[in-house]
Amino acid sequence: MKKDIESKEDIVLLVNTFYDSVKENKTIGYIFSDVAKINWETHLPKMYSFWASVLLAEQSYTANPMIKHIALSKITPMTETEFNEWLLLFTKTVDDLFAGQIASDAKFKAGNIARLMLHKIQTV
Ligand code: HEM
Repeated sequence: MKKDIESKEDIVLLVNTFYDSVKENKTIGYIFSDVAKINWETHLPKMYSFWASVLLAEQSYTANPMIKHIALSKITPMTETEFNEWLLLFTKTVDDLFAGQIASDAKFKAGNIARLMLHKIQTV
């Protein structure tokens, strides 16, 4: 039986597995590798902190992710297509690894943030 997301170690596994699948994805992988030329050594710890703050009330993430994504949308397509793919990969990663209340919260909150991000991108 799968366990719920309960610890920072669980968050690290979730985030690492998610970005492994993002890197290989035809629809959004290039945005990270070619457009943003992301430095994974700095990006991944930020994402551990973000998700631990959202799901485990760690309160270590204090930045504003909206601004970065709005800036990104000015240089590369960030439409419903890209957000749907992001959410599909995130949901699949959560479901492959975990089950429970916090796992459900993770999918629900990711969906809400993704919708809000897309809305902001379309309206600013
Ligand atoms: C099409 C969908 C998305 C794409 C292509 C994308 C891409 C990126 C990229 C390239 C960065 C690095 C920006 C930089 O450091 O210059 C980033 C950062 C980040 N993303 Fe996304 N993202 C997407 C959706 C989301 C969603 C839905 C969330 C939240 C649920 C999210 C959360 C974050 C966070 C927290 C950061 C770190 C921002 C910071 O503090 O520097 N992203 N994203």
